[in-house]
Amino acid sequence: MFFNKYNKTEASFLKYVSLIIIKIFTSEKMKIIIGVTGSIAAYKAANLVSLFKKKDYDVHVVMTKSATKFINPITFEVLSQNKVFVDMFKDDDHTKVEHINLTKGASAMLIAPASFNVIGKVANGIADDMLTTMVSAYPGKVFFAPAMNTNMYENPIFEKNKKTLEKFGYQFITPAEGLLACGDVGNGKLQDENLILATIDNSLNIPKLLNGKKVLVTAGATREYIDPIRFITNTSSGKMGSSLASAAQQLGAEVTLITGATPLPPIEGVKMITSHTSEDMKNAVLDYYDDTDVVIMSAAVGDYRPKVKHQGKMKKQDGNLSLELERTTDILKLLGEKKKHQMLIGFAAESDNLVQYGKEKLKKKNLDYIVINDISNFASETNSVILLSKSGTSWEYDGPKPTLAFRILESIFE
Ligand SMILES: Cc1cc2nc3c(=O)[nH]c(=O)nc-3n(C[C@H](O)[C@H](O)[C@H](O)COP(=O)(O)O)c2cc1C
Repeated sequence: MFFNKYNKTEASFLKYVSLIIIKIFTSEKMKIIIGVTGSIAAYKAANLVSLFKKKDYDVHVVMTKSATKFINPITFEVLSQNKVFVDMFKDDDHTKVEHINLTKGASAMLIAPASFNVIGKVANGIADDMLTTMVSAYPGKVFFAPAMNTNMYENPIFEKNKKTLEKFGYQFITPAEGLLACGDVGNGKLQDENLILATIDNSLNIPKLLNGKKVLVTAGATREYIDPIRFITNTSSGKMGSSLASAAQQLGAEVTLITGATPLPPIEGVKMITSHTSEDMKNAVLDYYDDTDVVIMSAAVGDYRPKVKHQGKMKKQDGNLSLELERTTDILKLLGEKKKHQMLIGFAAESDNLVQYGKEKLKKKNLDYIVINDISNFASETNSVILLSKSGTSWEYDGPKPTLAFRILESIFE
């Protein structure tokens, strides 16, 4: 379109300048609600409020009762230039339901520092004060920046609550390691305030590079059944694929995620379809293919399946057992053959000669891009990838999978 007549660097620069101009002319302050809880790190929330104000956010602070033991609400009132809320029932005037009213028009809620207690309460549906009631009534993005003693942070109850919240789309800003207020050294220190600001600011100001595009992502492992309860599979967790689906959605795309048998948490705004076998996945992908602009095949699809699937449970016999396997359909190759207007992005999981195998696969399967990763990163939280384009450009990234997902899509679409 308009930017097509410029080279990639010029086009990126022009897009960046246009975004800034649009922001200036449509400048309405973004509203953020900062929830402060009863942690020794509560004093750091004052700096956070100040950093958000300097970034021109409209900041509103809500405190738990315990938080007021650590820092006086006056500090936040002065820094935010807005009234601070603690008690849901304090005001005589209830003509406006303040815990709902305050969340209206907010771009995000940030709970920093987030105590063990508040995280536990929200995860278990408890809304017994202003802050927890607001979080439960707020449908937008909520970020928790935990701060607590290492033993509390490593308590399996905390882990369970965190997982529950993440499953429902709440986001966590991982704490730092270091010397804690209690004198222990370990995990649980409130993440650096500038990093917290950057995480939220980036998440709210993502340029919509994929606006108007329909994106299909596959993720996770398929299962090839021997009998109703036994199957051949692999260790893929689907985390890279679900991170890509989430990033594509945040970049403005309409996203459908087809998962293998691996259960994956729902992603806000992403349509999810579960398939089990490679055959199910092939059929699901083909159902969407014609009406898709971009396909990202990150699922680890089984290459072979048992030639015979036993209807009942296979009985154990004396001696060894040989299973005859047959090839499954190579979905990526099939999509490459059927390709019309679609952009096709494949994944290659290799253990050696990564680039050479990746290049061969890119060509053989008629792909536009290939993401090559080492199998040692299967099921891990981080990954290290090489992205290759059919024109020969390459990029190398490593880091947490959600961050990599953005880097990959930005490299392709910027
Ligand atoms: C000196 C002191 C420091 C504390 N620091 C923390 C902390 O960093 N993180 C935490 O989860 N709880 C901490 N607590 C315990 C909480 O204040 C306590 O669990 C409280 O009930 C939390 O209430 P809230 O979640 O409603 O704010 C601390 C308590 C004291 C007395």
